[in-house]
Amino acid sequence: MYLENLSLKIDTQKCNLCTACIRECVNGVLTKNDQNQIAVAPGGEGRCIHCAHCMMVCPAAAISIDGLDPEKDFEPALRGPDFSKLLNQVKSRRSIRHFKQRNLDSDVMADLMDALRYPPTGVNYRNLQFSVISDCDIMEQYREKLYARYFARFENEPDTKDICTAWKQALANGGDPVFRTAPHMILVNYDEKAPCGFADSVIALSYFEMLANAAGVGTVWFGRLIFLFNQMPELMDMFEIPAGYKPGYAMLFGYGENLFRRAIKRQLPVITHLK
Ligand SMILES: Cc1cc2nc3c(=O)[nH]c(=O)nc-3n(C[C@H](O)[C@H](O)[C@H](O)COP(=O)(O)O)c2cc1C
Repeated sequence: MYLENLSLKIDTQKCNLCTACIRECVNGVLTKNDQNQIAVAPGGEGRCIHCAHCMMVCPAAAISIDGLDPEKDFEPALRGPDFSKLLNQVKSRRSIRHFKQRNLDSDVMADLMDALRYPPTGVNYRNLQFSVISDCDIMEQYREKLYARYFARFENEPDTKDICTAWKQALANGGDPVFRTAPHMILVNYDEKAPCGFADSVIALSYFEMLANAAGVGTVWFGRLIFLFNQMPELMDMFEIPAGYKPGYAMLFGYGENLFRRAIKRQLPVITHLK
C-alpha cells in the first residue's frame, strides 16, 4: 500500500472483545488470534489503508493507529447540522462573480485551510496538494501575468482572436472574465498514482465550497483555469503544480459584493429509480 509502516496497537487489557473493529474494517486487517485477542491478521499490514475506522468505533478506546492516542487525539463525534439547515445552504449557494477587493479575515482563511484535512479520498489516499492564493496582491500579479501570456499567445490566432477581443473589452470595462475579480484561489492537484485523484480533488472543493459559504465566503468553480491549462500546459509551472501531480479542479473565493436576495427553484434532474 502507499502508506507503509503500519503502526496498529491493541491494548488487550482495555479491549472487551466486542469485535466491532473486525467487522468495521473493509480490508480484513484485524482478526481474533489463538489467544482470543484482537490482533493484526496475517498480511493485514499490507492491506491497511489507515482510515482509522477500527480506532473510531472501539467503545473501549483500546486501539491506537499511527501513534494516535484513542483517548486524546480525537475530535468529539459531532453531528452535522440538521437536514433542513444544510438543504437551505445548498439552495442558497450561488456562483459569485463580483468580489470585494479585500483579503478574507485571517481566522476565516485559517479555518478553511485547516478543514482541508477532512474530505474523503478514494482508498484513503490523502495525497492531494493545494495551491492557494491567499493574498489579493499576489492574485493581482497572477491575473496580470495570465492575461498577458494568453493575449501574447492567442491574440492573432484565428480560433481565439475573438475571445481575446471580448476579454480585452471586458477588462477595459472593469470586468475580469477569467478570475471574476476574486481575491483568492484554490487549485487542487492530485498525485498521478492516486486511484481516484480527479474525483478526490472535486470532492475536496465541494466540501470547501460548503464550508466557505457557511462562513459567509463566496465561491465560484474555476473551470476556465482548467481549460487554460489544456490550452497552455506551461501555465502549470506558474501555479507550482508539483512533479508527478496533475491539476484536478480549482475554485475562486472571497467575500461577495452582491447580496443574493432569493434562491431559485431549479428543475429536478432525470432520476431513474432502478427496479
Ligand atoms: C465544474 C464547474 C466549472 C465552472 N467554471 C466556471 C468558470 O470558470 N467561471 C465562472 O464564472 N463560472 C463557472 N462555473 C459556474 C457555473 O456557470 C454556475 O454554477 C451555473 O451558471 C449556475 O449558477 P449557480 O452556481 O449560481 O447556481 C462553473 C461551475 C462548475 C460546476
